[in-house]
Amino acid sequence: MDITRLIQRIPKAELHLHIEGTLEPEMMMALARRNEIELPYSNVDEIRDAYDFSNLQSFLDVYYAGARVLREEQDFFELTRAYLERAAEDNVCHVEIFFDPQTHTERDIEFATVVDGIDRALRDGRSRLGITFRLIMCFLRHLSAEDAMATLEAALPFKDKIDAVGLDSSELGHPPSRFTEVFNRARDEGFLTVAHAGEEGPPAYIREALDLLNVERIDHGVRCLEDPDLVARLVEEQVPLTVCPLSNVKLCVFDSLEQHNLKQLLQHGLCVTVNSDDPSYFGGYIGENYRRTQEALELSEDDIYTLAKNAFVASFLGDTEKQRYISELDQAMTSP
Ligand code: ADE
Ligand code: ZN
Repeated sequence: MDITRLIQRIPKAELHLHIEGTLEPEMMMALARRNEIELPYSNVDEIRDAYDFSNLQSFLDVYYAGARVLREEQDFFELTRAYLERAAEDNVCHVEIFFDPQTHTERDIEFATVVDGIDRALRDGRSRLGITFRLIMCFLRHLSAEDAMATLEAALPFKDKIDAVGLDSSELGHPPSRFTEVFNRARDEGFLTVAHAGEEGPPAYIREALDLLNVERIDHGVRCLEDPDLVARLVEEQVPLTVCPLSNVKLCVFDSLEQHNLKQLLQHGLCVTVNSDDPSYFGGYIGENYRRTQEALELSEDDIYTLAKNAFVASFLGDTEKQRYISELDQAMTSP
């Protein structure tokens, strides 16, 4: 079968997606108007022109500025609904999405406004589109550990809606170790844990995320190849890496998709998955990430299967649901 068709038809899980990073320029303009917020852009072309990044921080500055248009519960609902509709077009059947509460509570938006809007859209997406979900709350690592702890406490009344905690934002200079106590508390409260590590930061940050934060998955993790002992451990423990190829190129982690190390990661036997990170800012949703990476690295059908299967294995779904999705994947691989 044509591999592009195969990529389209296989059921997919997305495990690394910042909901604020799905804010398309059209929606940014519309919400700015509705909420009477001034933007430094006068049209969508100017917004897109600003998406020319030299590193993670240059992106985050634009991304946090864009998120200011999100104010009401309905805004978070519409943002999440639009993402799910777009994901359904790529045959995504399970999502585990991040949100950054501090980006909003810092602007005096209530925690409930954010979580309730996202959760309402997730439940709506499950009933209308059949997309199952988990929700992951990320702490902003450029802010203090005390801020993160206060955010965790604010989240406790919403435990039924939040499955896991994560760590994102500016990586360099903000090692996971600063958040050990917060992650211990989160685990005691019953949350699963993940962390961004080894995107721009060194392999030592991946080790800290494993040893000190006890995370179940590493978000990005592409710099692990600089440390062979770490690679051996990640393979042995089958720690999932949620890799985001188009993001890595847009943020200059790799000079081009052809130079991305995803195929090497696979060849080492690592549990690699493909994800879109902030698709509105990085030029493609998950299908585009699969297609462009397949083309650039000449991935085989087997590689595509492994990537898609890894995402179900690495998900926070129960074993029965994982098996159901993997059977559907197997069928999609073989049926004419
Ligand atoms: N927040 C949104 N996208 C991110 C990324 N790729 N790395 C760190 N923090 C982020
Ligand atoms: Zn990310």
